[in-house]
Amino acid sequence: MNKTWWKESVVYQIYPRSFMDSNGDGIGDLPGIMSKLDYLQQLGVQVIWLCPVYQSPNDDNGYDISNYQQIMDEFGTMDDWEQLLEGLHQRGMKLIMDLVVNHSSDEHAWFAESRQSKDNPYRDYYIWRPGKDGREPNDWASFFSGSAWKKDAATDEYYLHLFSSKQPDLNWENETVRDEIYRMMTWWLDKGIDGFRMDVINLISKDPALPDAYTHDPGIGTMPPNEEQTYHFGGQHFVNGPRVHEYLQEMNEKVLSRYDIMTVGETVNVTPEDGALYTGEDRNELNMVFHFELMGVDSGPGGKWDIRPWRLSEIKEIISKWQTMLHNKGWNSNYLNNHDQPRMVSRFGNDSVYRKPSAKMLATLLHTLPGTPYIYQGEEIGMTNIRLSAIEDYRDIETLNMYHEYKDAGKNLDQIMESIYVKSRDNARTPMQWDDSAQAGFTKGMPWLTVNPNYTEINVEEALADPDSIFYYYQRLIELRRAEPIIVYGDYTVLQPDDEQLFAYMRSYEGQKLLVVLNFTDQAQVFLLDEEVAYNQPELWISNYGGDHGRALAQEANMHNLRSLPLEPYEARVYRWQE
Ligand code: NOJ
Repeated sequence: MNKTWWKESVVYQIYPRSFMDSNGDGIGDLPGIMSKLDYLQQLGVQVIWLCPVYQSPNDDNGYDISNYQQIMDEFGTMDDWEQLLEGLHQRGMKLIMDLVVNHSSDEHAWFAESRQSKDNPYRDYYIWRPGKDGREPNDWASFFSGSAWKKDAATDEYYLHLFSSKQPDLNWENETVRDEIYRMMTWWLDKGIDGFRMDVINLISKDPALPDAYTHDPGIGTMPPNEEQTYHFGGQHFVNGPRVHEYLQEMNEKVLSRYDIMTVGETVNVTPEDGALYTGEDRNELNMVFHFELMGVDSGPGGKWDIRPWRLSEIKEIISKWQTMLHNKGWNSNYLNNHDQPRMVSRFGNDSVYRKPSAKMLATLLHTLPGTPYIYQGEEIGMTNIRLSAIEDYRDIETLNMYHEYKDAGKNLDQIMESIYVKSRDNARTPMQWDDSAQAGFTKGMPWLTVNPNYTEINVEEALADPDSIFYYYQRLIELRRAEPIIVYGDYTVLQPDDEQLFAYMRSYEGQKLLVVLNFTDQAQVFLLDEEVAYNQPELWISNYGGDHGRALAQEANMHNLRSLPLEPYEARVYRWQE
């Protein structure tokens, strides 16, 4: 397996709007991030992924870009950005930027031109079609509710928008569009950035026939259409579309391959087989992808808002099949939350009594699997989901559109709110909790989104003052990853895949072994140690319950030749030995 810096790094994701506000307008900004670089250095992360900071009308918080080469006014200036890059590089950290090129904003100059007339030179930069029988060109649903098409008055035609109507999809079939994008990427790379996170990059190629999603033919499509709905998920016509690999190989050849950078593609609805195609080291596309299979473990047949309990065996199965498929072929990215997902401790751990141990247990998982770990801001102090009392307090376009659609359809509002509490993207977007002063030290003004009231207990200042904090546990895991090749390059084998309480796996590298045992429950559990493992007298390497406690138990187990390891609620233990 090739050894590279991006396999050995830990990435920290910043959602700038919610990270740190320097000027009291309630919106996080670049000077705010600057003021926290020492904090990030202290944590020990090697790479920062900055969510979009480009000029944007903020219909989708920067994922709707109106100018790819300018900085959003609320966030600061290009000069601030240059200083940020320099400040990171000076501290030995790298910077990867968000690349949002499946769509632009409808306020981008290209779209302003494109919508003017059917023969405008920019017309073909986007995907325009006449209506069909007085309706949209096809039945595709937008990811953000309603149709994926909007009629534009100037030419009486529809344009495609897989996300909000202010996010028209770019037409990648058009070579000039691709060249414009490659030029823009090169411009950023020449400024010295260290890579890209590519937004919904596996949606860029659409079947040019743009067929309807709905079909009675069971042989076509992977998603059974829902007959009750007017608009349907059309993924079979644009997820991993016909030319996507060709485009990525072209991008790689013309841009990416010329720099020592890392790339991670956000890829919707992909299987491990798809993942191997995108990340295969001999295929020259991307270094790694974010898949969504884990993020779907608590969704029922109705999708994201149709919530069901997750099962640990399913989590293990997903992780293990990605590990197996990409082993020695591609590379995994590991994340349990980000700006689009609920907080991981609320979702997969316990955000009340066992908040600290469960956050550390989940961190142990992320940092001891093969693949690059991604930390989302606030995760390192165990920030939790929020329940906002009124829908008016929510800001996220996906949440608001869904709420109104369900409300118009006469659905039960209490039930909708319950789903929002669990799944809304705003759970992850509440401002970073720096200290216990007003607004958690995030802003001197009124924050754009409510600060989680638990900031008085959960905040960075508190974490830095407590040697047993989640923060210091992350710091330690990050250090270990840097020091120990087994964590990065060791093989992975899952143990007891059907167990619904414990997640256990082995790592092995050049005669060294690690055994990771994670208790995913709020009850004490017992793990049965393999005889051979017990014989090797494994040394307890990391535990989220404090080294001494774990070590004493392990010694006791060894002394009495006991093979059973008792685990506290949400306990994580990593043992090490040499064969
Ligand atoms: C994925 C991004 O992470 C999300 O925040 C955004 O809304 C969509 N892509 C559309 O750009």
